[in-house]
Amino acid sequence: MRIAVVGSGYVGLVAGACFAELGHDVLLVDNDEHKLAALKLGECPIHEKFLPELLERHRGKRLDFTGDLADAVRHSQLIFIAVGTPPKDDGDADLSYVESVAQGIAGAIDDYKVVVEKSTVPVYTNSWVRKIMLLNGAPAELFDVASNPEFLREGTAVADFLYPDRIVVGADTDRCAQLLAQAYGPLTDGSYYKNPDAIPGPVTGPFQAHLIRTSAKSAELIKHASNAFLAMKISFINAVASVCEAVGADVEQVREGIGTDSRIGRRFLSPGVGYGGSCFPKDLLAFRSVARENGCHFGLLDETARVNEEQRNRFIRKVRKALWTLKGKKLAVLGLAFKNGTDDLRESPAVGIIKSLLKEGCAITAYDPAAMGRAAEEFGPNSAVRFAHGPYEALQGADACLVLTEWEDFAALDLARIKQLLRYPIVVDGRNLFKPAAMEEAGLHYYSIGRPDVVGAHSATVTSALKEAASKNEAISRNEAA
Ligand code: UGA
Repeated sequence: MRIAVVGSGYVGLVAGACFAELGHDVLLVDNDEHKLAALKLGECPIHEKFLPELLERHRGKRLDFTGDLADAVRHSQLIFIAVGTPPKDDGDADLSYVESVAQGIAGAIDDYKVVVEKSTVPVYTNSWVRKIMLLNGAPAELFDVASNPEFLREGTAVADFLYPDRIVVGADTDRCAQLLAQAYGPLTDGSYYKNPDAIPGPVTGPFQAHLIRTSAKSAELIKHASNAFLAMKISFINAVASVCEAVGADVEQVREGIGTDSRIGRRFLSPGVGYGGSCFPKDLLAFRSVARENGCHFGLLDETARVNEEQRNRFIRKVRKALWTLKGKKLAVLGLAFKNGTDDLRESPAVGIIKSLLKEGCAITAYDPAAMGRAAEEFGPNSAVRFAHGPYEALQGADACLVLTEWEDFAALDLARIKQLLRYPIVVDGRNLFKPAAMEEAGLHYYSIGRPDVVGAHSATVTSALKEAASKNEAISRNEAA
């Protein structure tokens, strides 16, 4: 099939490369000249497993890049809109990019086309896109608008696309539903997985993706409701973790106990510093706005966001508790990305926590396996954050180590070396990456989420050293003030 994908961000780039992988001719459209030039030269602008391989495999053959939307529309049967829908101040999704793409498509329609929303958009966007297109001169009989939300996760986006739990096709006419089903044919009939060059996925053996046909409105709601439900699961376990801390229970045991109930499931029940990224925080607010505008009170969404926000504050209180005072402390931060497997810092809990610690007067040395380049931009050249070249360099001489992203590499660090490099043997783990028993054996003081603190045999000595250092700091500040 001939497919255009408008917007070469996370969703568009992955969808475009994967549709080419399924055998379609794909034109990726973007209005950013620099990005287009980089893509044409073979660069991959995001850190995403298997994406460089797919771009390499199909670039210049079944995958091309262009800035000419009208040309791409004329060339294609299916046009996927995958441009950004960032949040406005009131939490509503800003649909101005979608609107301008819809206008552009309308002017170029010369034959029957299916326009497909792939970006996450509020319910009714479908009818709204249709209206914009009609107002801009697109003949009603020459197009349909469908909703085909994307459920990919950053870091595993390619495998999520090619081995989906489900494909949702929200289409109000059979004609457009059939074209969309045809685009995903190699996944739903299982032929893609028989290909020896197929990208490996989480399943072995025969597989057929499951396609769910719904109305366009239902498909729009499915996306918001899925993200809100997953965010709620995370906030739920984080709230349970707080209760565990209060009563001396272990949230990992509780998680095992509840997650093994097949109705609940184990996934998305890892406690931590809260969810981040470009999707959950934004989609939760947008979903809340949609509900409100339509007269529905959905307080569960408010509470989900509130617990998430509070989780960062709780973490800072934990660091304070472990270190006695924060002012003047030198902290090693392991992990900056909003989760492992990505270099994305958008709404990363680590970034928010670091900014709060800087305000408290801490000095930070940070390391992340993928996000160092983006972090240097985020914090700017004059910031008090220093960047290390590796985890051990970050730990050297720090008063404590904070773990803020669940990178597996960190879990494999040598605990004896951590202890030897730190000034005080203190680790505050916002992702429960380490086993408390191993930390205890290594002589580390270990504070994690929803599990009892591990304070070693020398806890009194460490506390008095911390108190002494804090009063020295106080004296220095008093002298400076005088
Ligand atoms: C999320 C959804 O998982 C995708 O299905 C969806 O397509 C995507 O948003 C989107 O709307 O585009 P993503 O933002 O890539 O994907 O990240 P997740 O893997 O869902 O993680 C989100 C956040 O939750 C991260 O900060 C992660 O560390 C945190 N998390 C996740 C937890 O704190 N605990 C968990 O158990 C799982």
